[in-house]
Amino acid sequence: MNAAWNEAQALEIVRRHDDREGPLLPILHDIQATFGCVPIEAIRLIAGELNLTRAEVHGVVSFYHDFRDRPAGRHVLKLCRAEACQSMNGEAVAQQVLERFGVGWGETAPDGSVTVEAVYCLGLCACAPSAMLDDEPRARLDPTVIEEIAREVGR
Ligand code: FES
Repeated sequence: MNAAWNEAQALEIVRRHDDREGPLLPILHDIQATFGCVPIEAIRLIAGELNLTRAEVHGVVSFYHDFRDRPAGRHVLKLCRAEACQSMNGEAVAQQVLERFGVGWGETAPDGSVTVEAVYCLGLCACAPSAMLDDEPRARLDPTVIEEIAREVGR
């Protein structure tokens, strides 16, 4: 369960990394681990504490796909969009998944059951098209596997 945003707690996380060189990424990871995302309030606070601009912090947050600006659903499904998966019908499969769950990339289903995210190679190219459901690999996505995933996430 993610904690609700709390400025004092966030400040404590930032200060925990005071003695590090290049503290931004570890701070962002700890912020997301605590609050489930890196909200706009965190970007403002981190920028102030590290003497960076908000644009600089936002640039790092948006560069790494793992950071979210709002908490994920109860399950996270990461679909690979890199070359090997694309060459195995990955794009069509991905569209089927998005339609099945009624979401766009990076979005959470309205009932909060699942967030669907794009990733670029999961290292499962031989089993393309591949996905990861809550850190468990899913191979050779097709309509049957998609329905299995839907059952698992409760949709
Ligand atoms: S390209 Fe999809 S797992 Fe490598």
